[in-house]
Amino acid sequence: HKDLLDVTQLNKEEVQHIFETATYFQEINSRPVKKVPTLKGHSVVLFFAEASTRTKTSFDMAGKRLSCDTFSLAKSSSSLTKGETLKDTALTLQAMNPDGIVLRHWASGASQFLAERLDCSIINAGDGRHAHPTQALLDGFTLYQEWGSLEGKTVLILGDIAHSRVARSNLILMNKMGAKVRFCGPRTLLPPQIRKWDAEVYTDINEACKGVDAIMCLRLQLERQQDGLLPDLREYSNYFGLGHKQIELANPDVKIMHPGPMNRGVEINSELADCEASLVLDQVASGVATRMALLYLYLTRKK
Ligand code: CP
Repeated sequence: HKDLLDVTQLNKEEVQHIFETATYFQEINSRPVKKVPTLKGHSVVLFFAEASTRTKTSFDMAGKRLSCDTFSLAKSSSSLTKGETLKDTALTLQAMNPDGIVLRHWASGASQFLAERLDCSIINAGDGRHAHPTQALLDGFTLYQEWGSLEGKTVLILGDIAHSRVARSNLILMNKMGAKVRFCGPRTLLPPQIRKWDAEVYTDINEACKGVDAIMCLRLQLERQQDGLLPDLREYSNYFGLGHKQIELANPDVKIMHPGPMNRGVEINSELADCEASLVLDQVASGVATRMALLYLYLTRKK
């Protein structure tokens, strides 16, 4: 594929190949000198029209570690603020002949829109509430490193499913790699179509946590909740915040995950975020290796 728009595009063997490539780069990332010449002479634009800490920094670091030139553009400092359209902005960037554009945008489908109009690779770094494929790949890679395989495992995704691109992309990725997915959240934060998804659905957190191998907490996506469904934060935390009681109900070796940014004390107890079972910072480290793998595989693909 020219572009990475959604994990639906990848088959199990392709995901496995990304995990193995990321394993190689993870080893490089543990060396004292981490820079390799793999993508020397290549360039990529990091076009972030929505806020990001992890995704933007890790793509930037991934590119630089591979000797790829990276150029950053944020909405606030771009001519989008002067009324230039996404299409004109993208055509302008393409005229500079980069090998790829990493795009984060508030509109679902923005990456597909660019992919259909530009010749360079488009990598979706999160589009609206639609997809976040590189997050799902790094989450899967984090668990692959822990377990060796996701086959037969059960992963609970807890919280604001309705507004989350991470939930949807992770469902597809985990299922592809042989893991079962459970979703749990208040009824108002479960999307209407969820019963058609290949997942078990719960509204009781204690039932949902029984016997699971990993629990991924999601933040309330306040920036996407313009539909009046915002719960009271204290009430939400009481009923759907991950606490010690739920960890006792899970598999004794349960892993705790969060894609970040976290709201400590709301969707996750602060101690649990930092405990030994927490993979939160492993996810961040995996993000650099996974994005190195993706830049390498997409920017050097055979045309
Ligand atoms: N998980 C994630 O996408 O984090 P950022 O919004 O900080 O990039």
